[in-house]
Amino acid sequence: MNFKIATLPGDGIGPEIVDQAIKVLNAIGQRCGHQFTFEFGLVGAAAIDAAGDPFPNETLKLCMDSDAVLFGAIGDPKYDNDPKAKVRPEQGLLAMRKQLGLYANIRPVSVFEALLDKSPLKRELISGVDFVVVRELTGGIYFGEPRGRSEDGEKAFDTCTYSKYEIKRILELAFDYARKRNKKLTVVDKANVLATSRLWRETAQEMEPNHSDITVDYMFVDNAAMQLIQWPKKFDVMVTENMFGDILSDEASVIAGSLGLMPSASVGVHTSVYEPVHGSYPQAAGKNIANPMATILSAAMLLEISLDLTNEAEIIRRAVDYCFEKGVLTEELKKEQPASTSEVGDFIADTIREKKRTRLNEKSRPFKSWLS
Ligand code: IPM
Ligand code: MG
Repeated sequence: MNFKIATLPGDGIGPEIVDQAIKVLNAIGQRCGHQFTFEFGLVGAAAIDAAGDPFPNETLKLCMDSDAVLFGAIGDPKYDNDPKAKVRPEQGLLAMRKQLGLYANIRPVSVFEALLDKSPLKRELISGVDFVVVRELTGGIYFGEPRGRSEDGEKAFDTCTYSKYEIKRILELAFDYARKRNKKLTVVDKANVLATSRLWRETAQEMEPNHSDITVDYMFVDNAAMQLIQWPKKFDVMVTENMFGDILSDEASVIAGSLGLMPSASVGVHTSVYEPVHGSYPQAAGKNIANPMATILSAAMLLEISLDLTNEAEIIRRAVDYCFEKGVLTEELKKEQPASTSEVGDFIADTIREKKRTRLNEKSRPFKSWLS
């Protein structure tokens, strides 16, 4: 089959990590007889520099005309250190999510056996962790109006808003994920303080009778932040609003051992976007040291969710497991003789092409979609 992938490397380490995902997808194409066409678009600081707009119209059009979007990272210290900047790279990412209607961000949290000792958390606490954070992505305080500064500049304000419609559609999706997995849903909110959270909780409670096969529990976000680290195995699907999901998913990366291992899928109305959870890591840009695994695993999610190529996604995940077992790791995971970004990409692509340890009949671990 032929597939068109809108490819948006963005800023910082974005281009180098996206290059590795492209290598890996091409290796899958060779092995399984698919053709991927990568068409590049501008986003973020790169797009501001080239076109004065962090999410130009041509990029939106490219995304709309593609089967899936592969995204790198966004952000540049030049803007981080200038709070008065009129346009910011992050606006490009937010505009992309909003304009494509990507209201759900799926962030799986799982551990790799070979990396259990890389997490600062105890092995017995994290071995077998496997849950999914479903983060609402186009509402809440990220988008609410009014926002800004008072005239005298002495006050600033953001607004958190959610409509019942927005809450219902993300909860519906989270219930569906829970149904495909272990039928347990944790709704994370701050209903003891926030009106929006109370609407989330009330809506979830109203929906419960229609989803009686799912066990639902409710947790305040501060408590969830603690339980996530103390008892990560108790979670199956966690659903939460935009900002809580942003924070909790970075926190959850400590379980896996590195933020560089965390993939995500943003899905909704139009073309889905596959984006690593981490940012643009400007200190590492151009040095060939960043971990490309989050992007490679995001590419596996792309195959599974947008292209329905479940076996191909599993081949990537098995190649990733093999890479970890062989100790081919970037520097944040390995001090002595770490692998470079491109070495990791080459290793995974070669493993796939040479069919090492990735034959699906070998059952190196039971075949299981991440998401079910
Ligand atoms: C993420 C990032 C983004 C967000 C930033 C870069 C705008 O942190 O995808 O988690 O806050 O959503
Ligand atoms: Mg984040």
